[in-house]
Amino acid sequence: LQPNNGVVDIIAQQGKTEIFEGVETETYGYNGSFLGPVITVNEGETVTFRTNNKLSEPTTFHWHGVEIPGEGDGGPHHILKPGATEEVKFTVKQGASTLWFHPHPEGATAEQVYKGLAGLIYVEDDNSKNLAIPNEYGKNDFPLVFQDRQFTEDKQFDYQAVLNEDGTIGDTLLVNGTLNPKLTVGKEKVRLRLLNGSNARNYIFKLNTGDKFQQIATDGGFLNKPTIMSEISLTPGERAEIIVDFSKYEAKSNIALVNEEDTILLPFQLDEHRTNSIKIPESLNDYGITEEEKMLPVTKKLELFGMGTMVSINDKQFDMNRIDFTQKQGETEIWEIYNKPDMMGGMTHPFHIHGTQFKIVSIDGKEPPANLQGWKDTVSVEPDQTIKLAVKFNNKGIYMFHCHVLEHEENGMMGQVEVK
Ligand code: C2O
Ligand code: CU
Ligand code: CU
Repeated sequence: LQPNNGVVDIIAQQGKTEIFEGVETETYGYNGSFLGPVITVNEGETVTFRTNNKLSEPTTFHWHGVEIPGEGDGGPHHILKPGATEEVKFTVKQGASTLWFHPHPEGATAEQVYKGLAGLIYVEDDNSKNLAIPNEYGKNDFPLVFQDRQFTEDKQFDYQAVLNEDGTIGDTLLVNGTLNPKLTVGKEKVRLRLLNGSNARNYIFKLNTGDKFQQIATDGGFLNKPTIMSEISLTPGERAEIIVDFSKYEAKSNIALVNEEDTILLPFQLDEHRTNSIKIPESLNDYGITEEEKMLPVTKKLELFGMGTMVSINDKQFDMNRIDFTQKQGETEIWEIYNKPDMMGGMTHPFHIHGTQFKIVSIDGKEPPANLQGWKDTVSVEPDQTIKLAVKFNNKGIYMFHCHVLEHEENGMMGQVEVK
């Protein structure tokens, strides 16, 4: 947890981390050798991020999910050379949410994230501070960053060696940068803030007991009401907050978050001395999609297509000097995203837009499931699926939209919208 007195220092640096016992792995991190801190900001406050690039290569500081003026967004245009510093000052104008930050330099985003550049931003607001939900950091409210990695024989990240143009997948799972993690939780309701921070892997999260849990938040804020789920799926870049009720388990039980094949993602250890009697409220937020928004015509169409290095949006690959769309500040437009299959069937693309939280209007013409009726900045688009989004930018500037399989983004599956 990084202190925030209105100014927050964020330093990208290289270092060595003992991921495997007795071995030092060369890693990247923010304010430390690996991964990054959790920065908490409050709605309404003006905050300055003092960024500093202490790497030996150029980088940028991108605030994924933050509604920030384009000039502070940290996309590929905002390169900081080695040694450079920059102040990003903005007023927090969005509600409570779990956001994150990572680099975005053209051609090196995927590799820099892979080596460890990723941190979290918690936005808190009056609502989140007053709701009866677990909110004690590290006690009953935990950030969980899931990333898969491939190590060389001498336990290093050799990104180029393992690079897969359709997304680099690893055989080793790290949670918050930790190998073989285990989380100690109380015999109580616990809030888990899940981030899929992988370059390309999708995760299904469920409990090995088959028990259900509650989802309380999407990428950009609370759902209106807790939604009972038996599993949730997150593609790269997506977040979800869930509440797991551990009070019904015995201290010795084996409880774990597992993925679809029941392989363990995160085992829990129960501490019987920690309890709470929190009752999650029925009503958490007032997110809504208006009839007006539902009636709006489609004004932007995006067709996602391809695989490997041949990925494109509307048949084009990213060009830093080309603006693909314009939109007016404060105006809601309907973006229609279509994932066009290829002869092989195609791939799921997690579609992300910078600088905004959008609403999902429909998925293949139907209302989205309850747990997607909330603020989103990244949405999974399956082959042949058509998803309509209501998109509004509250700030001006140039923003990226792209596939969050970072290797697809790197290969050009990205465009720019200029908000005027
Ligand atoms: Cu996670 Cu272009 O962003
Ligand atoms: Cu982003
Ligand atoms: Cu993709």
